[in-house]
Amino acid sequence: MSARRVLVTGGAGFVGSHLVDALLARGDRVRIFDNLDPQVHPEGRRPHWMPSDAEFVQGDMRNADQVRASLEDIDVVYHLAAAVGVGQSMYQIADYTAVNTMGTAHLLQALVDDRNGPKKLTVGKLIVASSMSIYGEGRYARPDRQEPRGTLRPVDQLRAQQWEPRDVDGTELRPLPTDEGKPLDPTSIYALTKADQEKMVLQIGAAYGIPSVALRFFNIYGPRQALSNPYTGVAAIFSARLLNGQPPLIFEDGEQRRDFVSVHDVVQALLLAADQDAAAGKAFNVGSGRGVSVREVAETLARVLGSGIEAQVTGKYRVGDIRHCFSDISLAREVLGYEPRVTFEQGMEELVAWLQEQDRPQDGVEAHAAELAARGLTL
Ligand SMILES: NC(=O)c1ccc[n+]([C@@H]2O[C@H](COP(=O)([O-])OP(=O)(O)OC[C@H]3O[C@@H](n4cnc5c(N)ncnc54)[C@H](O)[C@@H]3O)[C@@H](O)[C@H]2O)c1
Repeated sequence: MSARRVLVTGGAGFVGSHLVDALLARGDRVRIFDNLDPQVHPEGRRPHWMPSDAEFVQGDMRNADQVRASLEDIDVVYHLAAAVGVGQSMYQIADYTAVNTMGTAHLLQALVDDRNGPKKLTVGKLIVASSMSIYGEGRYARPDRQEPRGTLRPVDQLRAQQWEPRDVDGTELRPLPTDEGKPLDPTSIYALTKADQEKMVLQIGAAYGIPSVALRFFNIYGPRQALSNPYTGVAAIFSARLLNGQPPLIFEDGEQRRDFVSVHDVVQALLLAADQDAAAGKAFNVGSGRGVSVREVAETLARVLGSGIEAQVTGKYRVGDIRHCFSDISLAREVLGYEPRVTFEQGMEELVAWLQEQDRPQDGVEAHAAELAARGLTL
């Protein structure tokens, strides 16, 4: 069997670069399409980890012609390129929509136009990176086991530092693992664009018979995570603070729970999504299947780094933030055969070992916090 030709958009980034390594190791031929966004790649050139045996095309998802050209002679597309950041998306609305929603539109338009056209694009599989952010709040239960009618956190409640969501009648709710059937409720522009990307890919895939899969990633961490970017994962942000001798800044009370998944497990899910024919047309949660509090993240990182610096609980709240969301991964287990292998402790150790080899990252957290405050986006 001849090698598959695989396009990875965003292949210079954190998740994309690990995927590229895994594809090359399997014997695939890989093309990377990435604009080297300066926020992610402040050095302004290809990252040193980009393998020379992958073809690199520097191009922008906002440029329809460049996107179209990148698809020539490709069998499998992994669409990972995106503007990534919840807080930032709330003031760079047009940019996020242009890169994520319109970028995906350019990709799909090219596939549809050229499927039977002169270029004969022959893409046979399309996998898109979606996000847990599209759920908004995760699943909750009432004490009486009835279905909650809302997960409300009105501003007055937050000002009073009562963080747990309540049902419409004021009953406090208990968080449950979130499954794919949870109704979507994107609470930021970033989340809206991720929901757009997922639905656009699955709709066009179904309409034109291109097997397509959306993977809803939870909070991914691991080596090569962009540390200088203050808008991405909390583990990287906290690590950067600790390495700069600063306390991690925790919003609310630190008991909010998220699901931290190692980039190696995410790569496993990405490979399976293209391999398993039964995955076509579906969206899958890709997480660790376990909820961890933000306070535990800060404590684990400080322990692993041997730092005595304690996290600072700010009691502040960010517009668009949810309280709890962690994954139910039954569907991915069943259909993809996905099984997370890296425990939280192991993964944090790997992250920290990598961090210690890096130059001290500039941390932009305070500038980001000031930007949000100046725009009235923190309470
Ligand atoms: N990291 C996470 O925790 C997480 C969670 C949920 C979903 N995701 C999704 O996974 C995907 C990969 O995320 P990541 O963490 O690797 O992010 P990343 O920022 O490290 O990588 C994204 C890559 O896309 C490139 N890019 C950005 N704008 C582009 C444009 N206009 N044209 C071409 N390339 C562009 C960047 O240069 C970068 O190399 C994204 O779609 C993201 O929304 C990530």
